[in-house]
Amino acid sequence: MLIAGNWKMNTDVSSCVELARGVVRESKNAGMVRVTVCPPNVFLSSVGAVLDGTRVSLGAQNMHALGRGAYTGEVSGEMLRSLGCHHVILGHSERRQYFRETDAEINRKAKKALKLGLVPIVCVGENLDQRRAGKEFEVVAFQVKYALEDLALLSSNALIIAYEPVWAIGTGETATPAQAQHMHALIRTLVRQQFGSKIGNDLHILYGGSMKPANARDLLSERDVDGGLIGGASLQSDVFGQIIQAAREVEEGRRAAGAD
Ligand code: PGA
Repeated sequence: MLIAGNWKMNTDVSSCVELARGVVRESKNAGMVRVTVCPPNVFLSSVGAVLDGTRVSLGAQNMHALGRGAYTGEVSGEMLRSLGCHHVILGHSERRQYFRETDAEINRKAKKALKLGLVPIVCVGENLDQRRAGKEFEVVAFQVKYALEDLALLSSNALIIAYEPVWAIGTGETATPAQAQHMHALIRTLVRQQFGSKIGNDLHILYGGSMKPANARDLLSERDVDGGLIGGASLQSDVFGQIIQAAREVEEGRRAAGAD
């Protein structure tokens, strides 16, 4: 299980550090659950210093596909690596929607991230109109296909996919566990087809979209849900900590069931 916090464009330098300290505290009893936080780029260094030597890893929210050059305002994967980032969120629906990111661009970024040893968290998900039209599987299958096209994936740990139905992000509305499971199973099938069953079976597929303590356990209990990408509920460390605990309990339940 992986629980990732996406802090988006929130916090300032002191509240960011405070939040990171809180997450470190909350992660002390995370068991086998891996925890990562993705602060705004300008705070990566400060948060990285807090996380150093702890079990919480550092992630970024986006990157450019190229290493360097005249791209005012952009940040490269190399820069993220040099700050100690392990993960980078790519293709978040807010990037697709407000910054017109395309699947082709996301694909270029994912290839670059893999080359650098940064683990991309590739986000996919349908919007409300697409779901109402019954096109959610088609839309997500398309996004997965193009975002992952020609990716050289050697291990299931090198990539993470997050299913984030756009209608559930920041709205308080959540996919039902059954809706999430249905989509995660489809994504896993696509990954198996492309990368083989070993990688397909082991790849982490996170759910994102208004995950909170009240619904985390049910969502995380679904067979193909391997963690969460959490926005709003990651901005308070104690609330985030409750989600980490829910993940821990589900994970321990799975392991106990597997040992029977
Ligand atoms: P939310 O955001 O938890 O606030 O819905 C999730 C995300 O956008 O990653």
